Amino acid sequence: MNFPRIFKTNSVNTARSPIQMVSVSLLLALSLSACETAGYSPLVDYEQLSPASIFATPEPLPSPNYSTEQLSRGRYMVGMLGCGSCHTEGALNGTPDAAKLLAGSSTGIAYTSPFIDDNPGVVYPPNLTPDMETGLGTWTMNQLVEMVRVGTRDHSARSLPVMPWPAFSGITNEDAFSIAAYLKSLAPVRNLVPANVEPGQRTNGEYIHFGIYQSRNPQ
Ligand code: HEC
Repeated sequence: MNFPRIFKTNSVNTARSPIQMVSVSLLLALSLSACETAGYSPLVDYEQLSPASIFATPEPLPSPNYSTEQLSRGRYMVGMLGCGSCHTEGALNGTPDAAKLLAGSSTGIAYTSPFIDDNPGVVYPPNLTPDMETGLGTWTMNQLVEMVRVGTRDHSARSLPVMPWPAFSGITNEDAFSIAAYLKSLAPVRNLVPANVEPGQRTNGEYIHFGIYQSRNPQ
């Protein structure tokens, strides 16, 4: 598979102008060249960026509640599963902030197509550090485990599971609890991400779009 490509708006006078739109395309849409020939390119509002895959993980704080083995297993899992690629400030638009690893992202992810909707639905990867106000400080271990394994009601209501929980659903209890223990043991980082928006609503935050496109008329 191709390395993801990101496209981001830089237009200033369309309806979408106040919004910084970014799109990630896993495969370049050959069908788009057909649109270009017809005089319209949906990508006109976008510029290409490089996303960052974040496998780096912060050192957990020692905790009386969890064993060292559990914390290092959780850290290993979170790194390997690339949770920080979405949940780190700046990672989705290629400018990761090392001081905000796993502390949430103010770049959102569109879950309806910005090529169809001027205002797609957007979710913002939340702060996973245990900050009491902006992070997961009040979450229980069981809530965290459930989130990693089956997503939330919101996720399952969506046609596109933005957070890839279906891929994690076969995880063992031990591994899921290790992830939860690791997240609970991080140093809290204060970072409030923008509120999610429903399709049709407008966000002032920036966002990206993941997409896989198949050509209709390959030449
Ligand atoms: C492809 C991007 C992506 C990846 C990778 C990802 N997440 Fe998420 N995650 C999201 C988004 C987006 C949301 C918010 C979804 C929503 O609001 O419905 C979310 C929500 C969550 C939540 C709920 C937090 C809250 O405040 O509601 C937790 C916990 C979480 N993710 C943990 C993880 C863990 C642990 C991993 C790695 C095993 C991970 N995520 C990987 C995108 C991602």
